Amino acid sequence: MSRSAWKRISVSLGVLSVLIVVAVGCGGGNGGGGAKIAYLLPENETPRYEAHDRPEFEENVEAECEDCEILYSNATGDASKQQSQAEAALTQGAEVMVLDPVDAKSAAAIVEKAKAQDVPVLSYDRLIENAEVDYYVSFDNVEVGKLQAETLAAKLKEDGSPSGPIVKINGDPADSNAALFKEGSNKGFEAAGVKVAKEYDTPEWSATNAQNEMQQAITALGKNGFEGVYGANDEMAAGSIAAMKSAGVKPEEKPSTGQDATVAGVQRIIAGQQFMTVYKATSLETKVAAEIAVALAKGKTFPQSKITDEPNNGKTKVPSVLLEPVAVTKNNVQETVVKDEFITSGELCTSAYAKACEEAGIS
Ligand code: BGC
Repeated sequence: MSRSAWKRISVSLGVLSVLIVVAVGCGGGNGGGGAKIAYLLPENETPRYEAHDRPEFEENVEAECEDCEILYSNATGDASKQQSQAEAALTQGAEVMVLDPVDAKSAAAIVEKAKAQDVPVLSYDRLIENAEVDYYVSFDNVEVGKLQAETLAAKLKEDGSPSGPIVKINGDPADSNAALFKEGSNKGFEAAGVKVAKEYDTPEWSATNAQNEMQQAITALGKNGFEGVYGANDEMAAGSIAAMKSAGVKPEEKPSTGQDATVAGVQRIIAGQQFMTVYKATSLETKVAAEIAVALAKGKTFPQSKITDEPNNGKTKVPSVLLEPVAVTKNNVQETVVKDEFITSGELCTSAYAKACEEAGIS
């Protein structure tokens, strides 16, 4: 073969190898460029998912990986819808799945499908049970329940009814977190000697269901048969407060708990209708989730030094990052959620709440 022929072959081999490198790079998988990340959230009645988790996750992924693409869906509280959404994301070529399950148990089937296609799964906020989950990012959810109970118990004591009793409106039993909130709050109430007169689990975390439960409790116990209300999140508090109002019970006189620091929840707090909420900085939760998702998309492992826990989900020990929740009452709205810009004073201090904001020192 002539020299020039050899040269032509080696040049084209060179071009070919460049093409191969480019192709591997674009394919996501190990290269990461343009990788598709499925982000599946469970419901949209609780405002956090659309107001915080979704936009903050998008922002944090973008900061880690400019050309990563997010395949987003919200299951609106429907576990079988979530299953189809997850399958659709896999069909569309998702290379990593970040899944906040509607149903912690049935979501194991989604994880199996993902794993069968070598797609790693990050369990987001709620732990998927009995499945080969790769990572878990959430808050210390037992601590959430403990904060709710301790803050309410202290208020009941201050008001002269240290043993309650209270009505307890728990979350959705299909959500693994609901059991953890229950565990933490039951421990907290027990330690403080607060009695629980009536207790309900609330399907789908729906405020309407919570309102019906609270209505039943008031009918059974009488208007004076309870001193406070444990609501597992701000939607549970909203339903309970609505039931109290329609039964002619003043919510200002029955301190209640919540979670998520929703705008409506914090407005009720500054107006004196809800006693407390729990602030969970979703900006941190989504940041860690984005770091892990992008690392997985690029075929890298997330640094072991950042792992804080390793809970067992029934199948495996899941490397986890669990963040710290913060209790919020009227006294610290300004230096927690407002300072962090989780809620702006503009959102909070609408004309109906302007006076309450001023009194609570919110600006
Ligand atoms: C989340 C809460 C939320 C609830 C209802 C829980 O798993 O941790 O923040 O309020 O689900 O969606």
